[in-house]
Amino acid sequence: MATTAVARLLFGRVPRVSRNLSQFSSLKFYSSQPSNYEYIKTEKAGEKQNVGVITLNRPKALNALCDDLILEVKDAVEKFDKDSSIGAMIITGSEKAFAAGADIKAMQNQTFSQTVNGRMLEGWSSISDASKPLIAAVNGYALGGGCELAMMCDIIYAGETARFGQPEIIIGTIPGAGGTQRLTRVIGKSKAMEMVLTGNQISAVEAEKSGLVSKVFPPDQLLAEAVKLGERIATHSQIIVSLAKDSVNRAYETTLQEGLRYEKKIFYGTFATADRKEGMSAFIEKRPPKFINE
Ligand code: CAA
Repeated sequence: MATTAVARLLFGRVPRVSRNLSQFSSLKFYSSQPSNYEYIKTEKAGEKQNVGVITLNRPKALNALCDDLILEVKDAVEKFDKDSSIGAMIITGSEKAFAAGADIKAMQNQTFSQTVNGRMLEGWSSISDASKPLIAAVNGYALGGGCELAMMCDIIYAGETARFGQPEIIIGTIPGAGGTQRLTRVIGKSKAMEMVLTGNQISAVEAEKSGLVSKVFPPDQLLAEAVKLGERIATHSQIIVSLAKDSVNRAYETTLQEGLRYEKKIFYGTFATADRKEGMSAFIEKRPPKFINE
């Protein structure tokens, strides 16, 4: 089977992007162009402009995640995911708040039947369906849906001032976008129970210690470090990166034996790609690989 057909079978997508007014315009290697988004900004970052950055931008509500904001994030993720020039994506917020959760003002008067019939929060998880890696760069509050949005990403980097929490219990509800599930899988039952049942926040250092966050940086260096990470990932074959991401994610969905079988099939599948051959040839010929994402 042709490698492109294999790729389509395994994860099925390809190319285009919209960009927007940049908060990084004073920095090197950021570019933006106008878009129609109201609650987010998007730009391309990195020396090769191969990292897509999505910045939540609803400052008056500490980036509370109203429906339209989530729709915009989903749209931006989808566009970067289809843009062949992009190798990794970042979701970030402001220095004060990554996101302070779902929009409490919008939820205040909702009834049970409205939540069921309107399938409240149901579309959020599709953000994590992206085939390219998503990095959450978290400064400030990542609470409720904000913590859940960060956990929908593949890697979380945090600024020293970041605060993570699932405070829904304080307002008479429970996490509804993965907080009881993803958090428990990542930091374990005891710590997750403590956070969900008390509503207490944890610091960036605690989050790193418990495995929720992979690295902590001074707040003003966070985004640059996340871009560096994205650039590093983007040096690899996009097709192989997607397969690796898919295989790691499978560990959360299945038993060890099933997961090992799945990994092996994906590993064999890499041998149907031109990039696997190129990677190994480049190693043997002592030169950098030239991946073509096929
Ligand atoms: N929804 C709507 N508006 C919010 C909000 C939210 N989640 N979080 C903050 N805001 C608004 C505030 O209402 C306030 O607006 P006004 O100026 O119009 O009053 C503005 O943002 C600034 O907030 P504060 O004045 O409260 O700022 P602070 O610095 O004193 O406190 C905070 C910051 C600790 C984050 C506090 O705002 C807070 O506790 N926010 C709510 C956190 C929360 O409970 N999140 C969970 C939501 S439910 C959920 O997410 C369900 C799910 O699983 C998806």
